Parts: sequence; C-alpha cells; structure tokens
Amino acid sequence: MVEWQDNKYHCKMWRLLVGVVTLASLSAACTPSITTVSGTHAPLTVCSGARIFADDFDELDTEKWQHENTLAGGGNWEFQYYNNNRSNSFAHSGILFIRPSLSSDQFGNAFLTSGRLNVEGGAPADRCTNPQWWGCERTGTPTNILNPIKSARLRSVESFSFRYGRVEVRAKMPAGDWLWPAIWLMPAYNAYGTWPASGEIDLVESRGNLNMFQNGVHIGTQEAGSTLHYGPYPELNGWERAHWVRRNSNGYNSAFHRYQLEWTPDFIRFSIDDVELGRIAPGNGGFWEHGGFNRNNVENPWRYGSKMAPFDQKFYIIMNLAVGGTNGFFPDGVSNPTPKPWWNGSPTAMTDFWNGQAGWLPTWNLNVNDGQDASLQVDYVHVWAL
Ligand SMILES: *[C@@H]1O[C@H](CO)[C@@H](O)[C@H](O)[C@H]1NC(C)=O
Repeated sequence: MVEWQDNKYHCKMWRLLVGVVTLASLSAACTPSITTVSGTHAPLTVCSGARIFADDFDELDTEKWQHENTLAGGGNWEFQYYNNNRSNSFAHSGILFIRPSLSSDQFGNAFLTSGRLNVEGGAPADRCTNPQWWGCERTGTPTNILNPIKSARLRSVESFSFRYGRVEVRAKMPAGDWLWPAIWLMPAYNAYGTWPASGEIDLVESRGNLNMFQNGVHIGTQEAGSTLHYGPYPELNGWERAHWVRRNSNGYNSAFHRYQLEWTPDFIRFSIDDVELGRIAPGNGGFWEHGGFNRNNVENPWRYGSKMAPFDQKFYIIMNLAVGGTNGFFPDGVSNPTPKPWWNGSPTAMTDFWNGQAGWLPTWNLNVNDGQDASLQVDYVHVWAL
C-alpha cells in the first residue's frame, strides 16, 4: 500500500471520510452486527440491536410467508394435507390463525378411500412444495386413506433467513386431541448436508390434548417444549440432550405466551415469557462433543465449522399445525379420555385415526367460534439482530 503519495488524493480521501462520518451521524448510528441475513424481506444493512424482521399479522402477507402445498406428512407420516386455503390460514384482528379442517368437507367421504389427489399446480405459488414421502400425489384405499385433515404450514424460506439473532413469537397453542402445533426454524442452505446434519431449531411445540397423561404427567396442553436436532444422520441425532419442556397448569392454549430464542456465536437459549427454559453453550468440541458422537466411527460434518456448527448458518422460520403422525410425538399407551386411535407401528395409522373421529373431533370444537380453539394463533413474529 502506498501512503500519502499524492496530496490531492489525500484531500479527496479526507473529504470523503468526513462525508461518510457526517452521513452516519445524521442517520441513527449503526453499529454493525454479526447477524447476517438474506431473503427478499431482509434489510440491506444490519445494525446491532435492530429489528430485522417483523410481522404483526394485520394481514396474511404471502410475500413473507410461503405456504407449503404437500401431502408429505413432515417425515413423520403426519395426517394432514398442507394447503394454501383461507379456511386453514388467515389473519383476523391482528392474529394469524392456522386452523385444521376435515378433508372430507371439501372432497367428500368416499374420496378419502378411493380418490386420487394430486396437489401439484401450474402457477408458481401452486407448486407442490415437498415431493418426498408421496407428498405430491396419493391415492386413497380403504386401509390407507388420503390425508383426512387439511391444515397449513407457512415459511419464510424466500423472504427471510438469518444467522444469529433474537426471536420472539407471541402465540397461543391450540386445544384438540392429537393436534401438534410448531413454530420452528430450518437451515436455509443445508450447508452441512441433509437432515439432521444441518440442524433444526424447534422454538415451541405442544400437544393439543386437554387431558393426556403419560406416567401421571400431563403431556398435552399443559406442556410446551423447545428442542435442537443435530447429528450426522437421522439415526444419530442429539436432540435428547437439547430438549426442554415447561409445564403450565393453566395450559398453553388458554393464553398467549412469548416464545423466545437467543442465538449467538457462543450459545443458544430458549425462554418462555422471559424465563429461561434451557440453553446450550458448547465447548470447543462443539455440538459433535455435546451430542456424544465422538465414540462413533463417523465423520464429523462440522469439523471445519465453528463450535456452533451446524447452528452457525442461516435458518428460516416455519409455523404449522400438524396432526398425529407415527414418530412417537404422541406415544402409544398414553392415558386420554378417548384412547389414542392408532398405534405408531400401524401401517394403517391414517385410517385408524380417521375411524376414531368420534373421540377426537368433538374436542376440536370446529363449530364453535370459527374453530379458534383448535387453531394455532400467532400475534407476532419479531426478529432482532445481535
Ligand atoms: C378451501 O377449503 C374449503 C374448506 O375445506 C373448501 O370448501 C374449498 O373448496 C377450498 N378451496 C379451494 C380453492 O380448494
């Protein structure tokens, strides 16, 4: 580098510098943040502490929230069909509602056992969003019916993803047997490979059952949980070391609560209403050590990442209301006023669930108050830079 070689050049640089400093002090001072962002609704400049994404749901902004359109069942053989339909997702009085409905209302009962449903559409917004697990087309049979519930899953995948920051979502969980609401984050680019190598951040999940007990513990609406999923492949997932629940005897369905994530280059912390639920601050061995994966003869996909890897890459936000599934989120053998209508090992789980509707449908109260009880309700989603 050549210094002060030309006085004229020096003067020009000086004037430029004065100009930049003046401009910076005229606008609010912006301290650069370590938070990074991308997406159509991400700010161009990220200032430390600034709010970088917000939705208060005065309207349902489909530019911010892309609807999933799939029968896939989230990898857990869940029972819902996610679609873009204002019966299943809408903003009303500043609240986002994700509301379940019966597929038979739209297609008729007979269609479930004999119809062919192809959810692929021609318009860009109508494309099937997940072809995995027969997600774009299924044919119903009497033993393996079509997804009997319609619901919605919204994601900020095109509009906003970020690495490090603070998230607060004010939401009310639904009530209704076998409803599974979730507000969570998934990696935008799978920088360390496919799930769960690139991680998953579950801000809040709960179960809609009002009176479900396992070993005497209420695991329905009175429990909310946060979880991290991470591991080199699906069978090796350290989630049990990064899973926390909190009980609330009033039920998380009875009031709005603030579900919070603080995510820094040193730790991940979950809180509910400003009270810490759990945190992980990995040592230099990172999440590989935290997960106890050292003993296994497997290559560490995060070995060239930071100690926060895979949680050192951008994630986007998802909000959905799922139903049932066979992965054990609803354990077999729970006690519930009406028994769980399917076994998790059943090849006919979807049909078994549907045949048990006399038990669960009345608990959803779909005909009362526009189905609000059974809806996941979100007041706002706010994200700040560190
Ligand atoms: C939206 O859902 C409602 C309720 O199931 C149904 O009656 C309607 O036909 C659906 N609209 C479209 C365009 O699929």
